[in-house]
Amino acid sequence: MSDSIIEIRNVNRVYALEDHPLDEASGVQALRDINLKVKRGEFLSIIGPSGCGKTTLLRLIGGLDEPQAGDLLMDGEKIKGPDPKRGYVFQQGSLFPWLTVENNIAAGLRARGVYRQYKAQVSKFIHMVGLDGFEKSYPHQISGGMAQRVAIARALINDPEVLLLDEPMGALDSFTRADIQDKLLEIHREDHKTMILVTHDVDEAIYLSDRIVIMTPRPGKIHEIVNVRLPERRERTSNDFLELRKDIMKRFHSASAEGSGVDMAAYI
Ligand SMILES: Nc1ncnc2c1ncn2[C@@H]1O[C@H](COP(=O)(O)OP(=O)(O)O)[C@@H](O)[C@H]1O
Ligand SMILES: [Mg+2]
Repeated sequence: MSDSIIEIRNVNRVYALEDHPLDEASGVQALRDINLKVKRGEFLSIIGPSGCGKTTLLRLIGGLDEPQAGDLLMDGEKIKGPDPKRGYVFQQGSLFPWLTVENNIAAGLRARGVYRQYKAQVSKFIHMVGLDGFEKSYPHQISGGMAQRVAIARALINDPEVLLLDEPMGALDSFTRADIQDKLLEIHREDHKTMILVTHDVDEAIYLSDRIVIMTPRPGKIHEIVNVRLPERRERTSNDFLELRKDIMKRFHSASAEGSGVDMAAYI
C-alpha cells in the first residue's frame, strides 16, 4: 500500500462571480496549482489567513466540490463525491436541530442503512466524546463545545479512514478548545486515522500536527510544509514549542508577502 492516502495534483478552483460566465479573468481564483500528498495516518494541519482557500481545499478532498483542473485521489482512485471513508466536520452549526444528540450521531448510520447493525456504537461514541447523560438533549440545549463534540462523534461513527476538520474549534473559548484538541489527539493515537485539520490558529496546528501546510493569501497556493519535530506529548509553554511558533510566524509573514499582503497581525 502506498505511503500516501490522499494525493492532490495540480488542482485549481475558480469561483464564478454572480451573473458572469466562469473564466479565470472574471472569477475568484480560490486555489492555484495545489500539489500535496497526505501520508496515511498522519495529522496534517493547513493554516492560512481567512479567505485563502482552506475550506475550498477541504471540500474538494471531501468530494463536496470539484476542481476546474487537476485531480484529487484517495488510495489512487479519483475522488468523485462524498464518501463515508472521509468524515467531515464543519466549522459550526452543522447539527440537525430537530434531532437529539444520539440521533444526530446516528444520522450517518441511518443514511447508510446500517443503523440496526451498528446501533450499539452510538453510546460508545457518546462516551468517547464525553457526552454521557446528554443523549436525549437537542442541539439548542447544549453548549457550542458539546455540539462540536457531537459533530466529531457523528463523523467518527462511520469509521472513516480520513477525518476532515474545518476549524471545528474556531468559535470556542480557549478552555473548551484545549479540551477538544486533547480529545482529537487521543482519538488519533488510538485509531491512527488520517486527520486533516484546517485552522488559522498556529498554536493549535503545532500542538496537534505531524506536518503543517502554510498557504499564501488568495489565490491560495502552498507556500511550504513544515515538519513538526516535537515529542508526541507537547507542552504549549516549552521552549521548543515557542521557538517553533516564532519560526512558523516568520514563515507565515513571508507567505503573506507572497500573496496579496493581508495584515498578518490579525492572525497572531
Ligand atoms: N461559493 C463561492 N462562490 C464564490 N466565491 C467563493 C465561494 N466560496 C468561497 N469563495 C471565495 O473563495 C476564496 C476562498 O474561500 P474559502 O475557501 O472559504 O477560504 P478560507 O476557508 O481559507 O477562509 C474567498 O475569496 C471566498 O470569498
Ligand atoms: Mg474556511
